[in-house]
Amino acid sequence: MLVVIKPAYEDLSREAARIVSCAVRANPAIILGLATGTTTLGMYETLVRLHREELLDFSRATAFNLDEYLGIAADHPQSFHRFMHEHFFARVNFAAARIHIPDGTISSQYEEYCAAYERAMREAGGIDLQVLGIGRNGHIGFNEPTSSFASRTRLKVLSSETIEDNRTFFPPGEEIPQCAITMGIGTILEARKILILATGAAKAQAVARAIEGPITASVTASSLQLHPDVTFVIDEAAAAQLTQRDYYRRVMEMTEWLTPNRLS
Ligand code: F6R
Repeated sequence: MLVVIKPAYEDLSREAARIVSCAVRANPAIILGLATGTTTLGMYETLVRLHREELLDFSRATAFNLDEYLGIAADHPQSFHRFMHEHFFARVNFAAARIHIPDGTISSQYEEYCAAYERAMREAGGIDLQVLGIGRNGHIGFNEPTSSFASRTRLKVLSSETIEDNRTFFPPGEEIPQCAITMGIGTILEARKILILATGAAKAQAVARAIEGPITASVTASSLQLHPDVTFVIDEAAAAQLTQRDYYRRVMEMTEWLTPNRLS
């Protein structure tokens, strides 16, 4: 596990976009696993800029998004479909046929739907690079505390903490989604490389538990300790509760000195 600590959100976003863009340049037919959430906004903004100014090409790339709220149509202002199109897909040259986001409007046969989503990922060749954010309760995707590490794409009931965090994004009076379709921990851990982002003091405890705490289903991001190629890119505020900060900084310095392109 590599822990990259950046001074502020802007630096974190640039570093995340650098890692994604290097991966896309190295393998234009890359299979990306993508996340939504406010943390990812700066990364997408930078990727859009790299597409416009430096011809970063997504025309052969494929995307599978992590999750979508259940009961929310693609054109709902808070849908993850809308988020992805507004902030990324519609602003770069991604082929519509290669964009996959779980359908939040299905109302039956959930298991079949989720199995088909898994099958599509497998048939595409599996995720090369999975981008993640982290919830205050340590969730990745919508794998809330106690989610099985063997879980696959499925319907998940959201925790009250997650529902509270989402409340600000929904107009007063509007019903807030209680469930989501999400890739499972088992699905996420099969990605060949994982990039996880966190910003701000509100995430500091979850980040410390995920990186330095025991591996436990109570903090599903701690499952990433089992993966051989994970990079956390976080800012100082999100790193505040890590006890090994100096060590992570030394590893970064040594890594850059030994192999300048190791992170790409
Ligand atoms: C989003 C997702 C979630 C978010 C997490 C952090 O697709 O799967 O796990 O990454 O809730 O969200 P923000 O970045 O809004 O704090």
